[in-house]
Amino acid sequence: MNASTTNAALLEKDQAHMIHPLHHSGGHASGKVWVSAEGSYLIDADGNRYIDGLSCLWNVNAGHGRQELVNAATEQMQKMAFCSSYAGSSNIPAIELANKLSDICYPNINHFYFTSGGGEATDSNIKLARSYWKAKGKPQKTQVISRIWGYHGVTFAAMCATGIAGYWPAFAPGIPGFTHIPTPDQYRYPKPEDGSSAGIAAANELEKEILKQGAENVAMFIAEPVQGAGGVLLAPDDYFPRIREICDQYEVLLVADEVITGFGRTGKLFALEHYGIQPDLVQFAKAITSGYVPLGGIGITDEIATTLENADKPWMHAYTYSGHPTTCAVGLAMLDIIEKEDFSGQAESKGKYLLEKLHSALDGHPHVGDVRGKGMMCGVELVENRFSKELYPAEWGVAGKMTKAMINHGLFTRMRSEVVCIAPPITSSESTLDDLVAALRDSVVDVFGE
Ligand SMILES: Cc1ncc(COP(=O)(O)O)c(C=O)c1O
Repeated sequence: MNASTTNAALLEKDQAHMIHPLHHSGGHASGKVWVSAEGSYLIDADGNRYIDGLSCLWNVNAGHGRQELVNAATEQMQKMAFCSSYAGSSNIPAIELANKLSDICYPNINHFYFTSGGGEATDSNIKLARSYWKAKGKPQKTQVISRIWGYHGVTFAAMCATGIAGYWPAFAPGIPGFTHIPTPDQYRYPKPEDGSSAGIAAANELEKEILKQGAENVAMFIAEPVQGAGGVLLAPDDYFPRIREICDQYEVLLVADEVITGFGRTGKLFALEHYGIQPDLVQFAKAITSGYVPLGGIGITDEIATTLENADKPWMHAYTYSGHPTTCAVGLAMLDIIEKEDFSGQAESKGKYLLEKLHSALDGHPHVGDVRGKGMMCGVELVENRFSKELYPAEWGVAGKMTKAMINHGLFTRMRSEVVCIAPPITSSESTLDDLVAALRDSVVDVFGE
């Protein structure tokens, strides 16, 4: 190996000039420089192979090296790599993609606006919700309610909706008009003492917040059907139906952030299908192109689209890359794969397999508090005391120790503090899932003992 192409040499060059997302030079010092990838594996500059335990950033659902996606991008780039989609211009892949999405998304959602990623989708939905209420003659409805541990991106408005406090202080003050309610996390949300449902109690936190802000001031509630970056937090089954009722009662738009859960990851094409409800607005990104090119977007109901259509002024919201023909062509090719290879069915059955294996490898370990998952989206929460659910003190550094141990065992994924997040490509084989679980179990033993 040429000395200048080793992982260490490339990392030094990287650190000289590159600023990373969540930049932190110390944290990056033992970073990986990826040079190739195959299926469910990433290969670093020294030739080491790692299981891609999070599909990179919950997005490479189809695995690495899919020729169909490469071909779709190449063919479109050869024909016409880019054109504007501002009103007055359009292109065939964007038209086809919007039509296809209308066939497969929630039945009430038939109109789509494209972005380059998830954060832009959050901002687009916030701006759309506010402009919708203005068009409906309720201009004071501007407030955004979201959840603690919710992640909706880090563009400024998305950052304010994001409920992970570490993202805020360096950029304060936030935008006024954003508040957060507790997560319905099944592991930690307190069970009501009267024995009633924790799911209903957690949903009623939304009603309390709407009443506190005044329903006449609240535009929307945004939630991930399964909270991803916040640590794979699952709501009880009765939570979202009650959320839908509350949103209807107080005229608050329900926004489903399906940036991770969309396109099959949880075992349904869109994750609120698990609960038999539909949102008013949806947002997606990541899996729509399996991460091969950046694409996101929002989907809106016929009623909201008609209101927008009938407004007397243009909707002054735009991105250069909205409706990008190349990214939309890749999106279309990816939807084809999702359908032909039944990603929802695969995620459901492989997710069950993965969760069972995680339970049998980790349940009963004194420092494993919770093993949870829905489809191919799992979380393992590590605790100091399994019975009190107490966490290790931050200075003990669970995340750093575990990340290092997992790398030693050939598994690359991310932690949310003390939660190991697991979401390998939906196409992963059972033997890769077995290896993933074994690597995780060995890492837990390395860090915490048997
Ligand atoms: C649920 C959710 N929403 C929004 C985003 C932001 O997406 P992006 O990083 O593409 O801006 C993410 C990213 O992880 C996400 O998980």
